[in-house]
Amino acid sequence: MSDLPHLPVMLAEIVEALAPRPGAWVVDGTFGAGGHSRAFLERGANVLAIDQDPGAAEYAAALAAEGHPGEVRFVAGNFREMERLAASAGVERADGVLLDLGVSSMQLDEGERGFAFRQDGPLDMRMGAEGESAADVVNGYAVDDLAAIIYRYGEERHSRRVARRIVEARAKAPITTTGRLAEVVASAYPPGPRREHPARRTFQALRIHVNDELGALQEGLEGATRLLGAGGRLAVLAYHSLEDRIVKQYFRESPRLTPLTKKPLEASADETAANPRARSAKLRVAERSAA
Ligand SMILES: C[S@@+](CC[C@H](N)C(=O)[O-])C[C@H]1O[C@@H](n2cnc3c(N)ncnc32)[C@H](O)[C@@H]1O
Repeated sequence: MSDLPHLPVMLAEIVEALAPRPGAWVVDGTFGAGGHSRAFLERGANVLAIDQDPGAAEYAAALAAEGHPGEVRFVAGNFREMERLAASAGVERADGVLLDLGVSSMQLDEGERGFAFRQDGPLDMRMGAEGESAADVVNGYAVDDLAAIIYRYGEERHSRRVARRIVEARAKAPITTTGRLAEVVASAYPPGPRREHPARRTFQALRIHVNDELGALQEGLEGATRLLGAGGRLAVLAYHSLEDRIVKQYFRESPRLTPLTKKPLEASADETAANPRARSAKLRVAERSAA
C-alpha cells in the first residue's frame, strides 16, 4: 500500500457506497493516481477518469495496462464541465460518480507546483495549466481583496494583518516563491504557541481562489446529478468545512437527489493513523431519484 503515490481515502466506504457492478460506468471526477478507480475496475466496472492535472494521464494509462475487464477512458479537464467531458469520451450516463476533492499527495510533493508551504518552489498553485497563479494574486491584488480571500477561504483570524504584511513585503520585491510567502505570513502572526503552521490557512485560501474550487464544486455537483441515471450514486469526499457545507446543502436541496448519509462518514481510527490526509475527510453519498 505504501508504494502508492497517493493513498486512496475511505476506499472501502466508497466502494460500498457506489457498489460498482460489472459493466457499469463510474465517473471518477478527481482521478489523481487512480487509487479509487482501481477498486471500481477490480469489481468489473468501467471508469471514466477525469482530472484537470494532465499528469494524471500517465496513471490512467498504467491502470488501463493492468488488464482489468472494464475499460478506462481518461479526459483531462475540470469536473465543472463533467457532462461535456463525459460526452467527449462517449459516456452519456453514469451509474456512479466520485469527487475526492483537493490536491493529491503527488501535487503536494512536487515543490515546483507551489502548493506546499513546507517546501520552497515557485508560487503557482494551479492544478490545471490555465488562469492566474498564486503569485499573480499575491503580487497584484489590492489589500482588501487579499484580506477577503484569506478570511473567506482560509477562515484565517489574522487575515487583515497577513494581507497588510504581504503588501508591505511585495513593495520591496515581488513574492515569487512559496518559501518567501510562508515567511511573510509567519511574520504577520502575533508571537505565542501555535497548533498549526501560520501559513496553512493562507495557502489553503490562495489555492481555493486560484482554482475556483468552490465554484467548480457547485457546478460539478450539478453536472454529476444530471449525468447520473436513476438509482445512480454520487459520493463526495470533502476535506474542509467550506466544501462540506456546499455538498451538504446541495444534497439537501436538490430535488433529484436523496441523501444516503445524514451525517458525513469519517475515516476509521486505523485509517487516520496510517494516513494523516484521512483525518479531515468527510464522505457524503446521495442517490439519483427516478424523476
Ligand atoms: C485528492 S486527489 C484524488 C486522488 C484519487 N482519488 C486517488 O485515489 O488517487 C484530487 C485530484 O483531483 C484533481 N482535481 C481537483 N479539483 C478538480 C477539478 N475541479 N476538476 C478536475 N480535477 C480536479 C486534482 O488535480 C487531483 O489530482
